[in-house]
Amino acid sequence: IRKKAIEKIENSSTLDELEEIRISILGKKGELTQILRGMKDLSKEERPIVGKMANEIRETIENKLTEVKEEIKEKIKRERLVSERIDISMPAKEKRVGHRHPLLKMIEELEGIFMNMGFSVVEGPEVETVHNNFDALNSPENHPSRDPSDTFYITDNILLRTHTSPVQIRAMKKLKPPLKIVSAGRTFRFDDVDDTHSPMFHQLEGLVVDKNVTMANLKDTIDKFVKEIFGDDIKTRFRPHYFPFTEPSAEVDVSCLECRGKGCEVCNGTGWSMEILGCGMVHPKVLKNCGIDPEVYSGFAFGLGVDRIAMVKYGIDNIRLLFENDMRFLEQF
Ligand code: PHE
Repeated sequence: IRKKAIEKIENSSTLDELEEIRISILGKKGELTQILRGMKDLSKEERPIVGKMANEIRETIENKLTEVKEEIKEKIKRERLVSERIDISMPAKEKRVGHRHPLLKMIEELEGIFMNMGFSVVEGPEVETVHNNFDALNSPENHPSRDPSDTFYITDNILLRTHTSPVQIRAMKKLKPPLKIVSAGRTFRFDDVDDTHSPMFHQLEGLVVDKNVTMANLKDTIDKFVKEIFGDDIKTRFRPHYFPFTEPSAEVDVSCLECRGKGCEVCNGTGWSMEILGCGMVHPKVLKNCGIDPEVYSGFAFGLGVDRIAMVKYGIDNIRLLFENDMRFLEQF
């Protein structure tokens, strides 16, 4: 029994085989168990001898079983380690992560600059009333910008806002002075598309209303903003202009970013780059339209062309690139 068992055990390669062998020898009906059971038929003299032998044999077989069991377990473990090995030098799959659109980044940067100057960010709808877009802003009944060839009307009273200035009206009616807000978003005009025009573009509106707000505060705010976004050596130039909702009004140019104001080909030797915003002191009639007493309060407002600032800042010469969503363009930001 011993010889046969040891041989079988050594030849087995799985834990199941080993268990089968154990049962066939040491199990309830196993060979050795049978022999031990038959002991009662033996004589008094034979019993201890056979018993001793049987126990020795059982011990050897049990030891052998454990020994081979350990070997097989060890083997299984080694095989698993080999089959589950990870090649850490294998190149990973490329992960392509999206990012924010350059215009959205521009808006967030502009809002950030104004927030640092104490402005709050508010929102206004792209679909506006004619009242908020024109009437309340003191726009004359016959002003050319009201013409359906310039403005997208939805009904007689509803339109796509032509500028972000209606947010001024909403803010003044809702918040009451002192107030200091900016609001950015889409604006719409019936323009033909060319390198610098698009029927949909972006503006950022600013409005400050408080006691004793002056033109000096307006200039100071604009100067600080321009230096923040374009650099300390960039100058501003205020040119008188007309807007129905501000008086006095101005347009602001910045010095050429290419030559920093010295005069070069880009600016035709003038040292000045394009106009980036319109601004002025809030018209007393507009304050009154919003229930604010112009005898007590005054304010200034400005409207920046966001697409223009992005174009100047990033050196983009065609506004269409901002809206076409060509990945080759977007991936550069
Ligand atoms: N709304 C004006 C425009 O679209 C800009 C502007 C805003 C001017 C605020 C003065 C004050 O051109």
